[in-house]
Amino acid sequence: MHISIATVFPHLYRDFLDTSLIKRSQENGIVEYDVVGFSSFCEPKVRIDSPVVGHGSGMAIRPELIEAIVQAQEKKYGSSYKIFLTPQGVKLDQKVAKRLAQTFQEQQHIMFFAGRYEGIDQRAHEEYADLELSIGDYILMGGDLAAMVVLESVMRYIPGVVAKKDSVENDSFTGPFVDFPVYATPSAPWKNRIVPEILISGNHKLIEDFRKKQAVKRSVVEHFQWVRSYCVDKKDKELVSQVMPVHYVALMHDQVIVDQGKVGTSSVTSLDIHDIARSCATYGVKHYFLVTPLIDQQKIANTILHFWNDAGIAYNHNRAEAVSKVSVIAALDKVIETIEAQIGKKPLLVATSAKVGNQAKNITFYDQSIIWSQDRPVLFIFGTAKGLSDELIKRCDYLLIPVEGFSEFNHLSVRSAVAVVLDRWMGNNNVIVD
Ligand SMILES: C[S@@+](CC[C@H](N)C(=O)[O-])C[C@H]1O[C@@H](n2cnc3c(N)ncnc32)[C@H](O)[C@@H]1O
Repeated sequence: MHISIATVFPHLYRDFLDTSLIKRSQENGIVEYDVVGFSSFCEPKVRIDSPVVGHGSGMAIRPELIEAIVQAQEKKYGSSYKIFLTPQGVKLDQKVAKRLAQTFQEQQHIMFFAGRYEGIDQRAHEEYADLELSIGDYILMGGDLAAMVVLESVMRYIPGVVAKKDSVENDSFTGPFVDFPVYATPSAPWKNRIVPEILISGNHKLIEDFRKKQAVKRSVVEHFQWVRSYCVDKKDKELVSQVMPVHYVALMHDQVIVDQGKVGTSSVTSLDIHDIARSCATYGVKHYFLVTPLIDQQKIANTILHFWNDAGIAYNHNRAEAVSKVSVIAALDKVIETIEAQIGKKPLLVATSAKVGNQAKNITFYDQSIIWSQDRPVLFIFGTAKGLSDELIKRCDYLLIPVEGFSEFNHLSVRSAVAVVLDRWMGNNNVIVD
């Protein structure tokens, strides 16, 4: 395999290519590198860059140089797969790295173009790039470190580069989970920090189970966006659900804003009972509490629930299953007491609202780790009528930012809001099709 790298600064690659596994892969005949400077393809005393077209400052690398480099390198090593490093490209992750390793092996000649200044002329990208690749949402001074990062991640997958195949297969991000924590021998305490006893037990099965659980737990808490993008396997989904903290939903028909901004109660609706129950069941919510202090309203809700726990089972077994996890309850305090009795810990109260507010600490749909690292049950509180009262929101630990689109309209039904919130917060969202 040949890898050509076009750069403004060829000397940057000297130590990189002469170190560790990257060096050994050349010694073992797996790959040959050819690092070429843009300036070698430029007439003497002519710059490799020129001012960008239009007003504003900055220089871009000229397209004729790219053409000259492609022609020269393809003459030496045959047609190539061309990767342009650019912050606007496809973002590198372990899935992309694995796919690229396949491409490297199929194509046998890969060319990297590392930009500098404002980048490489767009017309050269359009003419030549098979792949525009970014290593993350930040701006480097040039594409050289990006090229090295891509090589370090992709080359691990090329057979023979890493001696132990299983160390690549078990790496973080190779599946839905990150790696488990590792400890170096000897296992004696260090700065009063101990190695978990089970790891010195010698029992391989116990050690394996312990490591798996630790890996899944830290993946779910710290890397949920990755886990949900990757989790396709039924067994893996089960593992995730076992370590995810228990979630509850409360629908408030009490302490809500009613007419003229007054705080009061609202009426129950059968749709909110069914549909929210079905959303809760879909996302693994343990229980859904319908909170109303009004005896008549409690009776109406209980009549509906009774139907589903009785005659409704034969009519629609799935809906009955969802509705079996709904209770009518007189007050939020009773919900909190019930959860504490079930789990042994008070729930974190997360209020929801259609408006941004500062009555409680705001969290976003990317803040699962803030909540889940506290290892407490989570209670999402939704309002009916015109939303939860300010007093109630103030009582909560957090206020989730509103669900919004890119329009001015902001009037979701509460059952739609529950579905969207649960999906954004804890829904699986895998992007793997195989
Ligand atoms: C200073 S940057 C140009 C940034 C450009 N003006 C922009 O805002 O997108 C110069 C070169 O560094 C490389 N580069 C910078 N950040 C990168 C990233 N995150 N991933 C890949 N390449 C990057 C690219 O080759 C780019 O052409």
